[in-house]
Amino acid sequence: MLSLQCNLSRHNKPNMVPWSSPATTTASITAIIAILLLLPATTSQAQILKSEEHVYGPFNSSYVYGNLNTIFSVIPSATINQGALQITPDSAGNITYQNNSGRIFYKKPFKLWDDRYAALASFNTSFLINVYRVNNGTPGEGIAFVIAPSESLPPNSYGQYLGLTNAATDGNRTNNLVAVELDTVKQDFDPDDNHIGLNINSVRSNVSVSLSKLGIQISPNGTVFHVIWVDYDGERKVIDVYIADQDDKDAPIVAKPKKPVLSSSLDLKSLVNQESYFGFSASTGITYQLNCVLRWNISITVFPENKSNKDWNAITIGLCVGVPLVLIGIGVLVYLLVKKKKASSSDPQIMGTLKSLPGTPKEFRYQELKKATNNFDAKNKLGQGGYGVVYKGILPNDKLEVAVKMFSRDKMKSTDDFLSELSIINRLRHRHLVRLLGWCHKNGTLLLVYEYMPNGSLDNHIFCKEGSTIETTLSWHLRYKVISGVAYALNYLHNEYDQKVIHRDLKASNIMLDSDFNARLGDFGLARAIENEKTSYAELEGVHGTMGYIAPECFHTGKATRESDVYGFGAVLLEVVCGLRPWTKIEAYQLLIDWVWYLHREKRILEAVDPRLENNYVIEEAERILKLGLACSHPIASERPKMQAIVQIISGSVPVPHVPPFKPSFVWPALDFGIFDSEITATSTSEYSAFNTQSSSGHVGLSHV
Ligand SMILES: *[C@@H]1O[C@H](CO)[C@@H](O)[C@H](O)[C@H]1NC(C)=O
Ligand SMILES: *[C@@H]1O[C@H](CO)[C@@H](O)[C@H](O)[C@H]1NC(C)=O
Ligand SMILES: *[C@@H]1O[C@H](CO)[C@@H](O)[C@H](O)[C@H]1NC(C)=O
Repeated sequence: MLSLQCNLSRHNKPNMVPWSSPATTTASITAIIAILLLLPATTSQAQILKSEEHVYGPFNSSYVYGNLNTIFSVIPSATINQGALQITPDSAGNITYQNNSGRIFYKKPFKLWDDRYAALASFNTSFLINVYRVNNGTPGEGIAFVIAPSESLPPNSYGQYLGLTNAATDGNRTNNLVAVELDTVKQDFDPDDNHIGLNINSVRSNVSVSLSKLGIQISPNGTVFHVIWVDYDGERKVIDVYIADQDDKDAPIVAKPKKPVLSSSLDLKSLVNQESYFGFSASTGITYQLNCVLRWNISITVFPENKSNKDWNAITIGLCVGVPLVLIGIGVLVYLLVKKKKASSSDPQIMGTLKSLPGTPKEFRYQELKKATNNFDAKNKLGQGGYGVVYKGILPNDKLEVAVKMFSRDKMKSTDDFLSELSIINRLRHRHLVRLLGWCHKNGTLLLVYEYMPNGSLDNHIFCKEGSTIETTLSWHLRYKVISGVAYALNYLHNEYDQKVIHRDLKASNIMLDSDFNARLGDFGLARAIENEKTSYAELEGVHGTMGYIAPECFHTGKATRESDVYGFGAVLLEVVCGLRPWTKIEAYQLLIDWVWYLHREKRILEAVDPRLENNYVIEEAERILKLGLACSHPIASERPKMQAIVQIISGSVPVPHVPPFKPSFVWPALDFGIFDSEITATSTSEYSAFNTQSSSGHVGLSHV
């Protein structure tokens, strides 16, 4: 007999759900439920907690995040220009190089521990820097990666203080500061003028290591880049720092060395604030250098918020970036199961009943699926990604073609993904959504079975496939049909289904096409999307397109909303009409949308229509969809049309809203926040389908992360 705790009450009181292991016939479903119920209370942190991932750089002015200053706090004399975070001034403008300090921090603090968990947050951060020696002079003083209680720069922190402390505060415990410095000036406490150090509350490093022995020079003559990795293990409380040279800033990041250059135990909890800011500081003194950060990644543990004030009536689902249909629906399943469990208590009976509940999908036998896919033959593979592999199969009994998604072995996260899909997709019914036929759970293998979509995903039909000589192009008629199908599906999710559902990962590769080229929105596209890795959030950096579908406000709110879905839909509209991916650079424009907006202003919008259609399209329709695409891409969320209106616009019964000649600026914070949906916190992503679905407006999120 197990007794498990589960916070499923409407009224904010934990429910004790006694659970006795049922008979073997119900073993598989029991296993799932057990995993679910165990998650919040008893499993170890390492297995439960997810990370959120931030990938930044190059820091161009046309950066798709919108205004960089809304993501970073830029404390002068730091600036962002020439594609980099210039922690002290770069060569642009009329400046004095001497005696500067500056900071650039990520605006949002990170929570480094949570009293419910023994381990602290773990993080991995890596950054590409260039410490440039001006006019072959003597460099000075240094640059540091910093964890600090605030972004603000101490006064007089130039010279040896590296923007970390000053003569008055250096060494004071109350600084609550930890930094990894790259120091190019030797003070009397330093080993040399080319070292890396771990600093706690002071510029006097607790540990420092000369880099000269490793053949690394922080600021040599000429242009050399360095990559630094700082890994913190919150369970072992150990920090490891790695460094490697990189010749070309645009080349892929060099491999991480096997051995850290510096490794130290570090109990962050006893040193820094629970909510701390991450960023960079740097300084120059009498000698100077340019301190540039060209790329910056962080992946860090996210602690789930306390689940309180839940209202299980309203359930919202979504994913701002990266991953499609998500965890929340698990709640539905658990709730149902638990409710059912309470209603009656003879186990095998219940399980039987559960399996035949109208909303519950069919359980397949593993053998059946194995046979259907010819033992998961690689030849039957439809797609592959971090979530697992999708196979085509033919069910032996009814000769039905299916797509079988096998979740990867990486247990906990697969289970989350599996359960979310299972419970969400199965409850949705719409002719423009991919149908889930059933599931299978055996010996740790998790499988979902979908309708097979013979025409694959939309992206295969509207973009030229690399290496393919056949230029198959979807006709205008079919493109229009696909667009309306997707609009219907989204309107259903947003407005017609009894719970509000946000898709969060609209893009051509997530839109499947059935045998009649009807659009079917699905998570099934996920497997496809991951093959096409560049469109996941973790890949945001560099490739603009990775973000072409993500509404600018998402980077600030971390919240998926219906408006952000509409933004993604706008991107899909443009790509379907233009036959180009959102991040396509055209003429002087970095992004498809900017080019289309320009053509609109010039009253030449039809020039954006895919030339492969060779004028075989309906002018009036093309113009309508392009303008609608722009309207949906409005940088201000509240200005975007709603799905109900969009459906009518596509059908031609309502005119397209006015589209201003110039793309409006992204404004943050939004003036009228009340207009937004604000249900889902979704800063996390990466290959995990992780996000915290915390409710902020009476809607429910369920988080087992
Ligand atoms: C920089 O500070 C040093 C003292 O720390 C001073 O001697 C020097 O004149 C200063 N340089 C400038 C340009 O202010
Ligand atoms: C940041 O992450 C991206 C995507 O995972 C990767 O391609 C890139 O090399 C990383 N950059 C650094 C500086 O580690
Ligand atoms: C350290 O800083 C605190 C807060 O600013 C201050 O009250 C205290 O006197 C400082 N301690 C020393 C030794 O300077």
